[in-house]
Amino acid sequence: MTEPLRNVELDLPLVKEGKVREVYALGGDLLLVATDRLSAFDVVLDEPIPHKGRVLTQLSLWWFARTSDIVANHLVTANADEIIERHPPLAGSRDRWEGRSMLCRETEPFPIECVVRGYITGSAWKEYRESGTLAGEPLPAGLVEAQRLDPPIFSPATKASEGHDENITFERACVTVGMAVANTLREMSLNLYRRAHDIAAEGGVILADTKFEFGVGKEGEILLIDEILTPDSSRFWLVDQYEPGHSQQSFDKQPVRDYLDLLVAKGEWNRMPPPPTLPPEVVENTSKRYLRAYELITGEAPLE
Ligand SMILES: Nc1ncnc2c1ncn2[C@@H]1O[C@H](COP(=O)(O)OP(=O)(O)OP(=O)(O)O)[C@@H](O)[C@H]1O
Ligand SMILES: [Mg+2]
Repeated sequence: MTEPLRNVELDLPLVKEGKVREVYALGGDLLLVATDRLSAFDVVLDEPIPHKGRVLTQLSLWWFARTSDIVANHLVTANADEIIERHPPLAGSRDRWEGRSMLCRETEPFPIECVVRGYITGSAWKEYRESGTLAGEPLPAGLVEAQRLDPPIFSPATKASEGHDENITFERACVTVGMAVANTLREMSLNLYRRAHDIAAEGGVILADTKFEFGVGKEGEILLIDEILTPDSSRFWLVDQYEPGHSQQSFDKQPVRDYLDLLVAKGEWNRMPPPPTLPPEVVENTSKRYLRAYELITGEAPLE
């Protein structure tokens, strides 16, 4: 087991550094490396969360295997030996990246986030409360917070390079990517959501909402890219604790959120960078919850 890493920093050309992932160029493909960084309220915290990068990557792989029959994805391999075969110098840093990395086909990403909501919460609940709509479309009156939306709703968002993504209407998505592509992305996203919702339900987990990204591959084909169906891109709730009518606990980042809320309430933090220091027990609890999320969703042996 490697130590938790805030930065993985491999000796490869860095294509992009996101809030959580480092993306490298590797022989015409991309190596996506999930660090152990955690962002909450759009601020990246200083303390790495042990095992988090591996949980995100292993969960994505688990889901890619269970959805590739309905939507083609960018995964080439996550096998460390095969990755080293492509680029032998990576053998020297294997401890740092193995388990948290996937080799993927490079695409031109579409500039929208494909969000699917099966339950009304977060920014969707805010929009509904204010205007009775979701993604600009009217919803029935009288919904309560966290209520199920059946059928689930495609609610795209722009990809903001800084700060919050902005929810947009389907019409605006059509203007951005073209009507035919928008329809395809909506269909693919809804199919993926339905499949994942049913699989998660078997483990007593509700997939409340999730975000997919798609890109165009070198042959012009549409591919599902990025991470999928992880706690960072989705809201998962426990069936046992589900209670419509108020916001639900997020079973991964909740200890961090609670701690930060407490600091804000005490006037010790204003939600702006630099982030406060997390106490070791908050880091530890959060790490346990990511590991638990993996076990609950996959039903597989613990990752630790
Ligand atoms: N196959 C792919 N081709 C091209 N870009 C990809 C592919 N898969 C993932 N990406 C991009 O790699 C980046 C992954 O890094 P990360 O998720 O940390 O960054 P981010 O999305 O900018 O930030 P955040 O998710 O924290 O808001 C994203 O920008 C994503 O769009
Ligand atoms: Mg991302």
